[in-house]
Amino acid sequence: MTRMVDDLFELSRIHAGTLELSPQSWPLGDLVSEAIAGADPVARVRNVRLGGRVEDGVQVLADAQGLSRVLSNLIMNAIRHTPSDGTVEIVGRQVSGGVELSVTDACGGIPEADRERVFDVAWRGVNARTPDGPGDLDDRTARAGLGLAIVKGIVEAHRGHVSVENLDPPAAGCRFLVRLPSDALLTGR
Ligand SMILES: Nc1ncnc2c1ncn2[C@@H]1O[C@H](COP(=O)(O)OP(=O)(O)OP(=O)(O)O)[C@@H](O)[C@H]1O
Ligand SMILES: [Mg+2]
Repeated sequence: MTRMVDDLFELSRIHAGTLELSPQSWPLGDLVSEAIAGADPVARVRNVRLGGRVEDGVQVLADAQGLSRVLSNLIMNAIRHTPSDGTVEIVGRQVSGGVELSVTDACGGIPEADRERVFDVAWRGVNARTPDGPGDLDDRTARAGLGLAIVKGIVEAHRGHVSVENLDPPAAGCRFLVRLPSDALLTGR
């Protein structure tokens, strides 16, 4: 419940344009490692392998708290939708004009019709989900379909972009992609 209230406050700040961001240059690898460490206990309980890879020396200009929230929302979703024995992988790399983060899971794919709706406030899919499992004890009370709306809001406040794609068969999963420009927030907001 506390988390849902916190999520609602975050969303209202995003929609009111009053989200306070303190952009600084951070080693992307450190932010990804911290996010993985935070999600690791849940991954273990659910028997999901959690891996990450970031090229050495990649810096990201971002609000650390905001980007950490983006990562943890994406990673927790990915773990939750991946069956036992599956893998979730986070990759960070430099691309032209900024950095790209991807979170790849084994969710079985998101139906085409749902692909854009996943970012809507309060939208929760009924398909493409594995049943609630261990490590998900907060779900019945706390899951509200807010996580990806917050991800989108924070990423766009950095003048970035988030999208989702299904993996090509035979892989059966999906990949959330976040792009953050290297001049995020410097162009005036
Ligand atoms: N990695 C994923 N794989 C497959 N489906 C996903 C994934 N992430 C999100 N979804 C789908 O998108 C919906 C919205 O995700 P979102 O994170 O916004 O909400 P939630 O996880 O249901 O709730 P909350 O994040 O508020 O606890 C989910 O209910 C699910 O149907
Ligand atoms: Mg979520």
